[in-house]
Amino acid sequence: MATKIILDCDPGHDDAVAILLALASPDEIDLLGLTVVGGNVGLQSTVTNALRTTLLANREELPVYAGCPRPIMQPMVTAEHVHGDSGLDTASGELLAVPQTKVQTAHAVNMIIDTVRSHEPETVTLVATGPLTNIATAIAMAPDIVERLQQIVIMGGAFHEPGNITPAAEFNIYVDPHAARSVFECGANIVVFGLDVTHQMLISSARLEAIKNHAGRVGKAVADFLDFFNQYDMSKYGWDGAPLHDPCTIAWLIEPEIFNGRDMAVTVDSNDGPNLGRTVADWYQVTDRKPNAKVMTGGDSDRLFSLVVERLSQL
Ligand code: BDR
Ligand code: CA
Repeated sequence: MATKIILDCDPGHDDAVAILLALASPDEIDLLGLTVVGGNVGLQSTVTNALRTTLLANREELPVYAGCPRPIMQPMVTAEHVHGDSGLDTASGELLAVPQTKVQTAHAVNMIIDTVRSHEPETVTLVATGPLTNIATAIAMAPDIVERLQQIVIMGGAFHEPGNITPAAEFNIYVDPHAARSVFECGANIVVFGLDVTHQMLISSARLEAIKNHAGRVGKAVADFLDFFNQYDMSKYGWDGAPLHDPCTIAWLIEPEIFNGRDMAVTVDSNDGPNLGRTVADWYQVTDRKPNAKVMTGGDSDRLFSLVVERLSQL
């Protein structure tokens, strides 16, 4: 049976690919809606980009809900330097069209609460590919949803890998470390894809060509925006392509064998200072804290990109 998910995102190039991968996989994923948060760019733009992505997939009926425009305590941090001013800039300069459909009137946080409460227990999965503000707020407003959740699958954190926004922290966790800490400590089943995994999933030039040439109409548009996305990270890291972070979450729900990881106790540093937003895992069980998350540590990048090409070609 397909896993029912709410995808909480801040599109964002890699968020957009995660949305498309979910929409292209109806046998495995039942996408109930997109809840959007401010992150890569401001909320208005992340919402517009979520709508753009539904149109690209010819799925404008998919409901899109606007959520929190800023973190719980921290001043807002965005990533136009990575994703461009629109948050979804393209190499060609031609932005994806914006559909006529409008964002839903309900707030994203209320949608999360109502959806989890109205489904059978343990049948709804939250997938988070942006800062965790919406999810932390939903849990603060309605703590009863925690035990009703199937799981929370998160792209965020850096365990052995250095951070990408500060030396210690990954972007999604750093933007709202207080939200992240409360989510990791909430007691739900958590699966987390940090930079340790996603930095193995590079959009090399050969993979970009495969998306452009073998993933149909949608693949051509995706290649155009990933071509832009690649530029900043290629010059930052000197790698042959940017990491395809967010789709790892959806790919794991479709084909879990692609990835490996293990259960660990994870905490988030929410104290001001150089470690703000750092995710700390008890790798060798040197404390008596019980594991609270499955920390993914590796994966087969060729399989991930084959899956992306194969599924995008079906849209
Ligand atoms: C994360 O930050 C964002 O820029 C990406 O969309 C991804 O969710 C990677 O650190
Ligand atoms: Ca994201």
